[in-house]
Amino acid sequence: MKYFLITILSTFFLFASCNKKITKRGLITKHAMVVSAREEASKIGSDILKKGGNAFDAMVATELALAVAYPYAGNIGGGGFMVYRKHDGKTGCLDYREKAPLQATKSMYLDKDHNIIPEKSTLGAMAIGIPGTIAGIFAVHEKFGTLPIQEIFQPVIDLANNGVVVTEKQAKQIYSKQADFLKVNKDTILFSNEWKINDTIIQTNLGRTLTRIMQNGRDEFYKGETAKTLSRFIQDNGGIITEEDLAKYEAKWRNPIIFEYDDLKIISMSPPSSGGICLAQIMKMIEPFDLHNYGHNTLKTIQILTEAERRSYADRSFYLADPDFVNIPSIELLDSTYLKKRMANFSFEKATRSSEVSHGKIEIVESNETTHYSIIDQFGNAVSATTTLNGAYGSKLYCSELGFFLNNEMDDFSSKPGVPNMFGLIGGESNSIAPGKRMLSSMTPTIIEKNDALFMVVGTPGGATIITTVLQTILNVHEFGMTMQEAVNAPRFHHQWLPDEIRMEPNTFNIHLIKELEHLGYEITTKHSPVIGKVDGILVLDDKTLEGGADNRGDDTAVGF
Ligand code: DON
Repeated sequence: MKYFLITILSTFFLFASCNKKITKRGLITKHAMVVSAREEASKIGSDILKKGGNAFDAMVATELALAVAYPYAGNIGGGGFMVYRKHDGKTGCLDYREKAPLQATKSMYLDKDHNIIPEKSTLGAMAIGIPGTIAGIFAVHEKFGTLPIQEIFQPVIDLANNGVVVTEKQAKQIYSKQADFLKVNKDTILFSNEWKINDTIIQTNLGRTLTRIMQNGRDEFYKGETAKTLSRFIQDNGGIITEEDLAKYEAKWRNPIIFEYDDLKIISMSPPSSGGICLAQIMKMIEPFDLHNYGHNTLKTIQILTEAERRSYADRSFYLADPDFVNIPSIELLDSTYLKKRMANFSFEKATRSSEVSHGKIEIVESNETTHYSIIDQFGNAVSATTTLNGAYGSKLYCSELGFFLNNEMDDFSSKPGVPNMFGLIGGESNSIAPGKRMLSSMTPTIIEKNDALFMVVGTPGGATIITTVLQTILNVHEFGMTMQEAVNAPRFHHQWLPDEIRMEPNTFNIHLIKELEHLGYEITTKHSPVIGKVDGILVLDDKTLEGGADNRGDDTAVGF
């Protein structure tokens, strides 16, 4: 009888899961779409496409519009990474990550006893890396842009001058950083005002800076009046960035990390981001398991993902850094025999302990705030870009004269190998500070092909959790049959080797499941943050229409036509 009931019930559940109703689709459009953290930015990007611009023109517009509408993470004082896939299938990526200033030293955040000086790498002028965003957008426009730069900049300048309406979430974000704004800046700043929901923030100084950049080009920011004002401002506030630092900054075209998972081809960011390599390692480690049958966020699925994540983040910590400064054994790290060996001691019976996992042995023959946007244009080009100031409003240092916040990206270096940074990531020697070096990132802008055609554009903020959030979003669509919007909405978890714990979004996972995991030796925590990641993605549906997935954990919005 018991057996009979179980059979009936499991048949019912199997039937129910096979006939899973599509409960939620995001915005559907026919031709083109931009999904970003703010409606204004998505609209400005989409309007550029409507005018006949391509995804690269729209990238420039969206990136700048986020600097105006979403200064929490959107920026011209930070940097980022962009992965593209052109309509003809050609792929590539751009590194416009910040760099350490020429006067930076390995021990610049340590006191005389070699202890970390609290907040020096996170708050104020010493935390700033040389910004890369303006170099990035001009590199993109020069290579692929079709509209004149004036046509792209003007709507953004208008947005700065006419103002941005404060949302409820934004009012909370600004309010939450008031103490830091006061601590870091000599005077009150525009964002020290008591901004309330529906107020309008007008940024005429930023509008003027953008106008000068529009008129004089990239060099305005790196060699012109803006460069002089910026380096003077940073030094007046105790920083070390000079005019020479700005003048020497270059964005860099790199080769993306490309790998296969089932029938998908995944194109993601290469170092100095760890995103692509870690995503590839994790996906290759989990590929032999039948996730589809285990089901979404079930015990077995969580175990497999956690164990693969643990092993990959241990490698991240040891091997990954700026490839212009260290040799990264990418081929070995992605080798299938190596990855199989890494998972060899995994068992469903018991959690592996992170203390027993170190980076894998490789024989080398010598040798929480970011924002992501996804774009597909009417010609079939796709852009996936993640950009950041690192922390919320970066270093909190705001240059009132120029109208923007400066990043605190220097914290992504390992200030002291073995000591965690603000995301709890333990860095190794390879990611130590050196002049002109780029700090290791987790940003994972990603594009996916299926049957040689564009399938998905995806990415997210979230510090250390970026890689595992992108991973879960891809699996949600590919393994668990979700729509783009469902895949974005679904509850998320994360493991990063150290600390040895599974972070879960609070109140989203079943208590019995948590108990089962604990029983197997996993430590579960929900304390870090109310959300993990904020994904913005676009899925190409079978009929070639586009579905946007805009994360309602934020104000994110899809706009298209
Ligand atoms: O590059 C990185 O990995 C970090 N600077 C990203 C920071 C971030 O995502 C913060 N957002 N929550």
